[in-house]
Amino acid sequence: MDIKILPLEEGELKEIPNVNLGFGRHMTNRMFTQKYTPERGWHEATIGPYRPICLDPATVVFHYAQEIFEGTKAYRRPDGHINIFRTWENMKRFNASARRMAMPVVDEEEHLAAIIQLISLDHEWVPSRPGTSLYIRPVMLATEVALGVHSSREYLHFVILSPVGAYFKEGFSPVSVYIEHNYRRAAKGGTGAAKTGGNYAASLLVGEQARARGYSQVLWLDAAEGRYIEEVGAMNICFVYDGKHVVTPPLTGSILPGVTRDSVITLARDLGYTVSEEMIDVYQMLADVESGKITEAFGCGTAAVIAPVGKFGYRDKEYPVNNFEVGPVSRHLYQELTDIQYGRIKDRFNWTYLIEANGAGGR
Ligand code: PLP
Ligand code: COI
Repeated sequence: MDIKILPLEEGELKEIPNVNLGFGRHMTNRMFTQKYTPERGWHEATIGPYRPICLDPATVVFHYAQEIFEGTKAYRRPDGHINIFRTWENMKRFNASARRMAMPVVDEEEHLAAIIQLISLDHEWVPSRPGTSLYIRPVMLATEVALGVHSSREYLHFVILSPVGAYFKEGFSPVSVYIEHNYRRAAKGGTGAAKTGGNYAASLLVGEQARARGYSQVLWLDAAEGRYIEEVGAMNICFVYDGKHVVTPPLTGSILPGVTRDSVITLARDLGYTVSEEMIDVYQMLADVESGKITEAFGCGTAAVIAPVGKFGYRDKEYPVNNFEVGPVSRHLYQELTDIQYGRIKDRFNWTYLIEANGAGGR
């Protein structure tokens, strides 16, 4: 793919924020875009100024939500260079989501190369304060203008970048998670395993209700029985039994196959913990939290990294986990994972790719 690079005009250079980044509030100077039509395939690959997108009100995406996205990160290393972390896995998942949503796939290598080039151009935006990173958000939208329900013939693919701090205001401290017993996020055969906006739209009402009760995330149960634990709104979920055994729900088709989840499974085994993927009954889980058999619980995801759970809420009862303190296993995994992501220790799994801060790039 030949990417056309457009110069930035004087007024398009923004000041790079350094403090109080929050999550996803600032965007860098540039964005990548390309278009799709059946006749031309993907074309007009461009990196140019970050700009609003102008679309007709009758565009398919506004009506039928044919949209997918990804989330991956770049990290500032101690030597000043930049690591991306397993971003090629996000390229695969982007295409898996595209297939599920009847959208055209993107060449994975070219998608990755476009992201690397975009980061190289905006490399000054990768923040360096502890706990900060550059969040990478690839998106594909259905852009045909037509109101009949059908899969669009035309698409826009873009990638934007956002320097971010911690996803939760709590930072690396316990978060409160509400277990939803009434509404469901995704059913088997639905779109739960795809990263598509509709899954998130369907979760917003319950997210707001949970927040009003003082919880920052929602834990979803399976749609058929409302009994088995699936995942949290923006993370997969893991439980630690007796301080040494990590258990997470299996990928049964209704939850997102998280890159962080997969990294945690590999890392935990490597660090000497045992790991299993098992269906977890919510009543058994809560009983095990109360008896102390479950010693820790944590969410894992790109935005959230590792988020220890301080308490669960279910119906009207609260279930504190590990006295609302960060447990040793969560801390150990957080430390090792972030040490690899930021290039503070050797990457024994080949999970990172180094981009030179001067923009040259290379393994
Ligand atoms: N589950 C959901 C619903 C998510 O939005 C995310 C975040 O991307 C995850 C799980 C974790 O996935 P990953 O580790 O690939 O970021
Ligand atoms: C991520 O972790 O990348 C997510 O997509 C979570 C959320 C910001 C949607």
